This record gives sequence, C-alpha cells and structure tokens, in this order.
Amino acid sequence: MGTSRAAVWKRIEGLRRRGYGIEGARGAGYRLLGRPDAIGLEELRSRLSHPSFWNDVLLLPATDSTNSRAVDLAERGAAHATVVCADAQTAGRGRMGRTWESPPGVNLYLSLLLRPSVEPHEAPPLTLVTAVALAQAIELSVGLQAGLKWPNDLLIDGRKAAGILAEMSSDPDRVRHVVIGVGLNVNADRSAFPEGLRDKATSLFLATGRTFRRVEVLASLLDAFARCYGTFLSKGFKGVLPEWKRRDVLAGKRVVLRCRDAKWRGTALGVDEEGHLVFRRAGAARAERIASGEIVKVGR
Ligand code: BTN
Repeated sequence: MGTSRAAVWKRIEGLRRRGYGIEGARGAGYRLLGRPDAIGLEELRSRLSHPSFWNDVLLLPATDSTNSRAVDLAERGAAHATVVCADAQTAGRGRMGRTWESPPGVNLYLSLLLRPSVEPHEAPPLTLVTAVALAQAIELSVGLQAGLKWPNDLLIDGRKAAGILAEMSSDPDRVRHVVIGVGLNVNADRSAFPEGLRDKATSLFLATGRTFRRVEVLASLLDAFARCYGTFLSKGFKGVLPEWKRRDVLAGKRVVLRCRDAKWRGTALGVDEEGHLVFRRAGAARAERIASGEIVKVGR
C-alpha cells in the first residue's frame, strides 16, 4: 500500500478512538469487528415520518451541554423546532444542579428548542409532554413498557432510564423560547454509571440485553414529540393527559415530596390537566396541586 506499518497502526488507533472495534494479530493484520453507532443527518431525516416539523437539526461530536448550546442558539434567533444532539457532553446538566453522565457513543443527549405561542404559565407541562413522547418512542422502537414519574423521569423496571431538563425564557405575557433537554441511556453498560447510581439507573441495553441503533431511537422520539406537541397545541395538556395516566408510576403511592426547602410525606393522587401533581399531605383532609418539586422517595 506504499505506507509503513507504523502509519497503518496510527490510523488504526485513530479509528479505535472513534469507536471502531478492530482486532489485531501479529503478522496477520487487522480485522474490523464493528462500526461505531454513528448518528448521521441523512439517515435521521430519512427515518422521520414528520421531517417537515423540524426546522433544523444539529449533530455535534461533543459539547458541554446541548441545553446550553440550544439556549445560545435561541438567544441568537434560531428557529422554532431546532434540535441539538451531541454524541457526548462534557458538562451535561441534570435537575437541581446535578450532573448528567454523558459518555460518548452510547446514549442520546439532545435538546429541543421551541417557540410555542403560549403564555408563560402554559409552558411547564411541555416537560410532561416530552416524557410521554419519550415513553411512546421507547415502546414503539424498543418494545419496552415505560413508566413516568412526575415531573420528568422515565423509568424502566423501576429504574431511571431517561431524564428531562426544561429551561424557559419569557416576557410577562409570552414565551420567548423553551429548551427541553432529554438524556436517554441507550446502550450504556453498568460501568458507564458512577457507583452511587448503579442500582437506580438503567439503559435500554441493560433492560433488554440488546443494543440499539441510536439513530432509530432518536427518529422515533422526534416523531413522537411532533405528534404529542400537536396535541398539546390543539387541546392543551389535557389532550396528552390520558397517555401520562397510563404510565403514571406514582398515582396512589405514598411518597416524600421535596418542594423548595421543605420535605413532605403524603400520597400522590395523580397529575391534573395543568400537569400539576395532585398531592395529599399526610394527615391533611384535602389534596393540593403542586406545580414544581421532586419526589425523593416512593413507598407503597
Ligand atoms: C434530570 O433527570 O435530572 C434531567 C437530565 C437531563 C439531561 C439532558 S442530556 C441533554 C440535555 N443537556 C443537558 O445538559 N441536560 C439535558
């Protein structure tokens, strides 16, 4: 080939770093074992049933946080329905200031930039709309039943497989933009999670023993979101609510709710038409509606 062994080896190492599986045998050469699970724009677009819904799709090899990139783009005037997806994140963000583990090549990290014509108080249920879309996409493309834990967790077999982080910028009477970040553990192995998370987190691979092409799951998610978002705009969250209810893992359960600095024991009774948690504190006669908070413990 007119090239030295050292130069070939260097190229091979480069391919290995990009995720190609390559076996080497002294004196015999190299053998390609597997290609990286790349997400290509053309393939993604060709798999979408609603390609015209999405105005722009950016696929990045790595970034700090797709939410931060999408917020930057929004502030510079990017169009409604822009998707920012990265192969890896160096500073993935979760709710409540936590970090989101974002190793390369195995999972999905994406942010949806939206400019809905709604008032600021109408936008928060978009987190729940996205969770429903995510559940539908997993059920359709993977065949797994997903559970939803208010407000933003998707569970499989009781463990967290995906989380959603929504960030909004608004004027008093109108939403300027909403960025909805989705992290979905697709092919991550147990070793991809820090020790403290191994019993609480899962991935589609861990739940099924099979690996999945991320582009297929991503296309399924973008299609499901386009459908759910249409329902949300025409009917409000109440149009999506039955789909939430079918998967609600909290309804009727005793829980501990953290709301700002307080923690309350009580019973989660469901989610209402505004996407609020219906919650009855232990000992209280009446239920209250909770707009934001976190369930820190689920009992029976
Ligand atoms: C959570 O459950 O705490 C929310 C996790 C959200 C993670 C996603 S990954 C893509 C997007 N970019 C981020 O920095 N965070 C969200």
